[in-house]
Amino acid sequence: MAAALPNRMPLGSESYRNRDLRGDDLRSDDPRQRLIVALDVSTAAAARAIVTAVGDSVLTYKVGMQLYTAEGPQLVRELVAAGRRVFLDLKYHDIPNTVGAAVSEAAKLGVSMLTVHAAGSGKMLRAAVEAAQASPGLMVLAVTVLTSLDEHDLEKIGIRGSVEDSVVRLATIAIANGCQGVVTSAREASTLRAELGNGFAIVTPGVRPAGGSVGDQVRVATPAEAIASGASHIVVGRPITEAPDPAAEARAILGQISG
Ligand code: C5P
Repeated sequence: MAAALPNRMPLGSESYRNRDLRGDDLRSDDPRQRLIVALDVSTAAAARAIVTAVGDSVLTYKVGMQLYTAEGPQLVRELVAAGRRVFLDLKYHDIPNTVGAAVSEAAKLGVSMLTVHAAGSGKMLRAAVEAAQASPGLMVLAVTVLTSLDEHDLEKIGIRGSVEDSVVRLATIAIANGCQGVVTSAREASTLRAELGNGFAIVTPGVRPAGGSVGDQVRVATPAEAIASGASHIVVGRPITEAPDPAAEARAILGQISG
């Protein structure tokens, strides 16, 4: 079993967790506020090993359905107790009552960010936002259009128009119903900023460091491109977690965010 996580309590304190994450609330120039590392692994031991290897370069970790299904809430509690911020990416999409109840439980875990599907519509989003108020500073982020979907996929499920139109429509519903941000590709971020302003977070996955290998990603942006497009946060997984030196890779990406 991997060693327990080293504690870094000051960053886990309420006041820290409640600030600095929203798109319009990034008062600190610290690029670490913008970087989220995806813990896409199947065991707590593997997750701990990544967090330990990355060290102080990263404040926020994304726990998604793979790790959560394998290890459950205990690992989330452990990360929070060790002073890390957790982005719980379970993409809730159900009736409002069920989503509200799930968000209440996530709030009790002390996570800093979580995801719901904007397609769940206004009532579901409001239920999520209201439940999240139990944990001040907890951000409800609405997933707009999954980056794996294109216009043809949308058409087959009855959604006409461009991906960008759908992203703008879903983001508008999300913000109108109180969500603090959206998840979308860098490609749509600048349109969202132009249409909806700066008062919300845009979390962007599919980011690859400049000069790195693209791997299996098709629609990728570099950290600098994502930030220039209007992203407030970027999610990076394998380029950091599978790097020979994850801390060095994280520092390089932080440099590209700042640069
Ligand atoms: O590809 P990478 O390992 O950086 O992925 C990190 C996270 O970003 C994954 O957990 C996945 O959910 C998300 N992702 C995405 N769309 C992409 C690539 C990754 O939503 N095109």
